[in-house]
Amino acid sequence: MTVTTLSEGHGLEAVHDLVDALAAAPDLEAIYREAIRGLTAALRVDRASILLFDPDGVMRFKAWQGLSDRYRAAVQGHSPWAADARHVRPVAVEDVAAEASLGALRDTILAEGIRALAFVPLERERLLGKFMLYSDRPRRFQERELRLAETIAALVSFAIERRRGEERLAQQAAALARSNAELQRFAYASSHDLKEPLRTIHSFVQLLQQRHAGRLGPESDEFLGFIVDGVRRMEGLIEALMAYARVDWDAPVTTRVELADVVAEARANLKAALDESGARLEVGDLPTVVGEARQLVQLLQNLLSNAVKFRRRSPPTIAVTARRADDAWLISVADDGIGIPAEQRARVFEVFHRLHAREQYPGTGLGLAICKKIVERHGGQISVESEEGRGTTFTFSLPAA
Ligand SMILES: Nc1ncnc2c1ncn2[C@@H]1O[C@H](COP(=O)(O)OP(=O)(O)OP(=O)(O)O)[C@@H](O)[C@H]1O
Ligand SMILES: [Mg+2]
Repeated sequence: MTVTTLSEGHGLEAVHDLVDALAAAPDLEAIYREAIRGLTAALRVDRASILLFDPDGVMRFKAWQGLSDRYRAAVQGHSPWAADARHVRPVAVEDVAAEASLGALRDTILAEGIRALAFVPLERERLLGKFMLYSDRPRRFQERELRLAETIAALVSFAIERRRGEERLAQQAAALARSNAELQRFAYASSHDLKEPLRTIHSFVQLLQQRHAGRLGPESDEFLGFIVDGVRRMEGLIEALMAYARVDWDAPVTTRVELADVVAEARANLKAALDESGARLEVGDLPTVVGEARQLVQLLQNLLSNAVKFRRRSPPTIAVTARRADDAWLISVADDGIGIPAEQRARVFEVFHRLHAREQYPGTGLGLAICKKIVERHGGQISVESEEGRGTTFTFSLPAA
């Protein structure tokens, strides 16, 4: 009978190394390998294995040291514990040759040259599997050794569960990204296809209007007007929807962009509206940021056009300013317009959410949804502050260059 004694220090050192190795393990396979390494080092055994329940409820070898294929095939699936067992304790067999309870497996084990073994459960909220320790001579695993093995089992079980959780999350995130991308493509493709028949309707209704105006009776003329108006609005909606979908697959966000140029371009695109309202646009010192120029122009353009559209008086005053906050810039677009009621503020970024009748203020309700998507694609956030009847300030963050 061999009685191996381990110094406390040795076990502790092995556990310490294992903790580091488990933290650095890139995947489950590495965790299994490190578990075997830690176990054999801590308990000074030559042979060990780790078996885990697969989803089908069968315990299978995941990693091993010093076991033949034949042996593994013969014993795989045998377990002293049922899959739903709880709070199980290690089982040690001091001398396989003298252990009748092993039954038919005993000869297989002896043929592999194993004379003593220990089963150590891997358990978290449920039983995950087990460690096996083997000795080629009869050996009494001492209580202290088994406790050390249990400690290692607890560390490894934790690492396995955490890693499995991470993999599940990564899979879910990938599936979500895939379905999102599909949805975007679908939205884009269907919007695009809708444009074609709409164009046909548009041209023929216009033709009807031009050729038969005044001949169909005043009511019909009015109806035709409604149709043309509806078709135009639908075209606007489709354009906006396509712009919304496009944000996701436009060029990756990598270039340095001068925000002053962005504002200048947005301003040029909005020249008619700005001139018509006589808007006073004050632009402060603006930084260089990291982003996609075209999207940033769209962002500023949407915010500026809202500031002009929802003005309280003419001329409106609009200010674009920037301030630094850690690694990011905070950009604000402030107006002195009609303001947004407190209970509506959170919802203005939702797709198609508008606070006014179309006759009062035209629009599709996608402008701010697009802004939000653009800012978030740049790794930033957008928020709104407002005082009803006084003005509104939109603030978004962008990574500094
Ligand atoms: N600067 C602002 N001042 C007051 N209300 C605003 C301002 N900006 C947005 N809102 C409110 O939020 C709603 C949503 O804005 P958003 O830009 O998404 O849509 P829209 O301007 O109505 O239409 P679109 O931009 O698609 O043409 C607006 O309808 C308006 O009620
Ligand atoms: Mg808008």
